[in-house]
Formats: sequence, C-alpha cells, structure tokens
Amino acid sequence: MIKAENLVRKFGSQVAVNGISFEVKEGENLILLGTSGCGKTTTLRMINRLIEPDSGTVFIDGVDIRSRQPEELRRGIGYVLQNHGLFPHYTVAENIAIVPRLLHWKNTDIRQRADELFHKLNLDPSIAEKYPTALSGGQQQRVGLARSLMVNPPVLLMDEPFGALDNLTRIAIRHEFKALDELVKKTLVMVTHDVQEAFEMGDRICLMDKGEIKQIGTPEELLFSPSNEFVSGFFREQRLQLELKSVLVTEILPGYPEKEITVWEKMEALLHIRNDDSLEEQLKIEDLMRAFLAYKKK
Ligand SMILES: Nc1ncnc2c1ncn2[C@@H]1O[C@H](COP(=O)(O)OP(=O)(O)O)[C@@H](O)[C@H]1O
Ligand SMILES: [Mg+2]
Repeated sequence: MIKAENLVRKFGSQVAVNGISFEVKEGENLILLGTSGCGKTTTLRMINRLIEPDSGTVFIDGVDIRSRQPEELRRGIGYVLQNHGLFPHYTVAENIAIVPRLLHWKNTDIRQRADELFHKLNLDPSIAEKYPTALSGGQQQRVGLARSLMVNPPVLLMDEPFGALDNLTRIAIRHEFKALDELVKKTLVMVTHDVQEAFEMGDRICLMDKGEIKQIGTPEELLFSPSNEFVSGFFREQRLQLELKSVLVTEILPGYPEKEITVWEKMEALLHIRNDDSLEEQLKIEDLMRAFLAYKKK
C-alpha cells in the first residue's frame, strides 16, 4: 500500500531523515516512534508531499507519488495533527466541510456524513455551529479526526494526535479511536514519542533515532528480540507493562475464546468488573499472570 524507499531529507546542514525505508500493508497501523527531533514528522510529511525528499521515493499502491498532483494526492490521505489543525475563524461545520466541498459534495451529503462521524466520535451535533476555541481539547481532537475522515480516505497520517491532551483524556480518546470502526480498516501511519501509545495502537513499530531506523517490527519483536542496544535500552523502564501490552491472551492460554485481546487489556477488563463474580475474576487475574510468567520463561 505505502512503500518508502531510502528517504533522505536535509534542512541546511541538518540531516533530518537519513535513509528511511519501510512498507505499510493495507489496513495496517505503523507507528513512527522516537524522541523529539529524530525525524518522525519529516518522514510522515514526505508521504503526503508536505515535504519533498532530497532523495528516495514514496509509492502508494505502486505509484510514485511525485507523478501525482500534491492537492489531489492529499485528498486521498487524511492528516491529523497534534494541535488539531482546525481553522479558528471557521465553525466546526465549515472546518470539516473543506475537502468535501472541493470534491463538490452536496450540502445534504456533507451534513449527513458529519452527523454520522459526530455520532461515532461521541460529539454532540450542536457542536457544528461552534468555533474551535469554544471546544475542549478532547473535542477539538475528535473534530480534527472527523475532518480527516469525512471523505473516507484509505490512508490516514496522524502526527502526535493525542499529544496536546491531558493524561486521562489522552488514554480515554486513544481507547475510543482504537475501537472506531472507521479506523480499523484504514492504512494508518502514526507518529508518537509515547511508548505506551505505540504499543497500544501499532501493528508494527518503526523505532527511529537521529533520522535512522533502529528497528522495525511488531511490538513483540522489538521487546523480545531487540536487534541492538538502543532498542533494548529504549524500552527498559516500561518493560513489564509493554510486555503485557504486546502479548495476546491466546499466546499464553491457547484456546482462549477472545482472539485479539492483549494480556494488559484483559487485566484491565477484569479489574473493572465489580459484581458477584468478582472473586472468581480475581482468581483469573492470578491465573493470567501465572500463565504470562510461564510463557516468559520459555
Ligand atoms: N523546517 C525545518 N527547518 C529546519 N530544521 C528542521 C525543519 N523541520 C525539521 N527540522 C529539523 O529536523 C530534525 C527532525 O525534525 P522532525 O522531523 O520534526 O522530528 P520529530 O518529529 O521526530 O520531532 C530536527 O532536528 C529539526 O530541528
Ligand atoms: Mg514531530
């Protein structure tokens, strides 16, 4: 779907991106992870031609993106930014109608699609007539996502989409976004410096440092088979939590009926159950932990 080949980009004498290559399959979530200044945003923006590489190529569906008009290319690629990128002098309704208008959508279709997304993103429809500054950070971020999804682009780029939010809002919105049906089938490239976020949202993680890729692989591969010292060092502090987030329950308890749930998610779910079964559920957490430790010993 997306293929980046040996991307290089300098700013003056500063090498921001130094030979980055990766592939993202259709429907996959790839996370560009790394500390501030390592070249994540520059890499992301070379996918929608907001930045042109000095050398290297990006292909989308096998087509070199330089052969396409930037404006036309960008209409097929949603883009969500940390500070939502909404125009302050436009209402919410006007903000999210920008691309549909360019595509000559009918007003009724725009309104219908907006209402559908408001509903899915837990936004009250009355929000449409408000200006961005009148919204909370969480609402702004939801509107930013709604705008990027309006014309249902097959590819979505997200640059620190939760970065401006307080911690609790961030975790809540992350869970919501992750469960959103519209995002499940999208090809997604997301930038973050937050390791937990990368492990929760990523099918694969591209760990970067100083404009280069240190390792690219599934969360599990990075954690359990780091290819160098940098990679193992990067995850050291948060290791246990990351391990719980990267291992599926079915991997430690073969035959477990819930297929796609991680040990961490299952533990969270069990902890929040407060009913007559709670005693039994507590036992299950212990069983889960025991099975996890046995799995790790192998
Ligand atoms: N427009 C620019 N002009 C000059 N230097 C830039 C510009 N954009 C990025 N850089 C530099 O390139 C490096 C990578 O930046 P960036 O891709 O934004 O990193 P990240 O998103 O990982 O924080 C940084 O050192 C940054 O200062
Ligand atoms: Mg950045």
